[in-house]
Amino acid sequence: MAGICEGRVVVVTGAGRGLGRAYALGLAAEGAKVVVNDLGVGTHGDDTQERPADEVVAEIRAAGGEAVANFDDVADWEGAQRIIQSAIDAFGRLDAVVNNAGFVRDRMFVSCTPEEWDAVIRVHLRGHFCVTRHAVDYWRNEAKAGRPVDARIINTSSGAGLQGSVGQSSYAAAKAGIATLTLVQAAELARYGITANGLAPNARTRMTMTAFADVMTPVEGQFDIFAPENTAPLVAWLVSEKSKHCTGQIFELIGGTIRLALGWNDGPEYDIGRRWQPEELGEKITELLAERPAPKPVYGTQ
Ligand code: NAI
Repeated sequence: MAGICEGRVVVVTGAGRGLGRAYALGLAAEGAKVVVNDLGVGTHGDDTQERPADEVVAEIRAAGGEAVANFDDVADWEGAQRIIQSAIDAFGRLDAVVNNAGFVRDRMFVSCTPEEWDAVIRVHLRGHFCVTRHAVDYWRNEAKAGRPVDARIINTSSGAGLQGSVGQSSYAAAKAGIATLTLVQAAELARYGITANGLAPNARTRMTMTAFADVMTPVEGQFDIFAPENTAPLVAWLVSEKSKHCTGQIFELIGGTIRLALGWNDGPEYDIGRRWQPEELGEKITELLAERPAPKPVYGTQ
């Protein structure tokens, strides 16, 4: 039986390990041709001299699929261009980008250094920008040349970005930015035949195993809720032509649950019909606070 991604060409960033590896293998099993990008860094972005992208490409080929490796940094403008070009050079086209690469430098806000802040914002936000910006250039040129474009951007946000997470201010800020970036991309790029959606996964990887090992360790004989492979089917569907009607969404995933995130919604309001006096505000704001539904707690506060 043909897979749902037959004929699709996709770049998956950070695909040497963890979630990205599971996406690359899942996409190839569904018939996609995959560029497996990975810089081979450690959990804090440190140089390891490892080349896990090669291992994933070998796994895909051993299973009869098609893949090539790329080792560029997603947040390097020229490197990101090479990532996109490697899809076109190897497979003649590009249909989807899965922005997944990243790392954390967890710190309480009061201790966070400018270097740690910049490194985390760079890899996630700038990384999403650089890779997708080059992909969109390619798709816009295709559309202008009269060739049909049915392209996909799949971004990676996080529960930390949607509701905040203690000790992860830089990461949460980057992931919140990525969620909103997805909305803007969906709104701006529909005219070229491009959809944009985002993921907030929950998976057992080296990134999460230090903080959440107790909850994420699988129990023998039970559904392995935190297996990274659980997120791969949604990624395959989003990459496929079947998801054409779906754009501007953020999907939270945990085990077999797929949840649409609703983002920032309007809460209770009150219009005084003129400019407020500062001393009037306290009473009305206390009333509005009492009316609002309880927000999701920031991770790490309960
Ligand atoms: P991971 O550490 O297992 O994999 C990340 C991969 O990205 C690594 O192989 C690393 O070498 C690569 N990478 C890092 N910087 C790179 C760069 N500049 N250029 C190219 N490759 C680079 O982590 P995991 O958990 O698989 O995370 C994947 C994505 O999912 C990340 O964006 C993460 O923030 C996000 N995420 C993960 C969650 C989880 O539960 N594991 C929860 C929410 C979001």
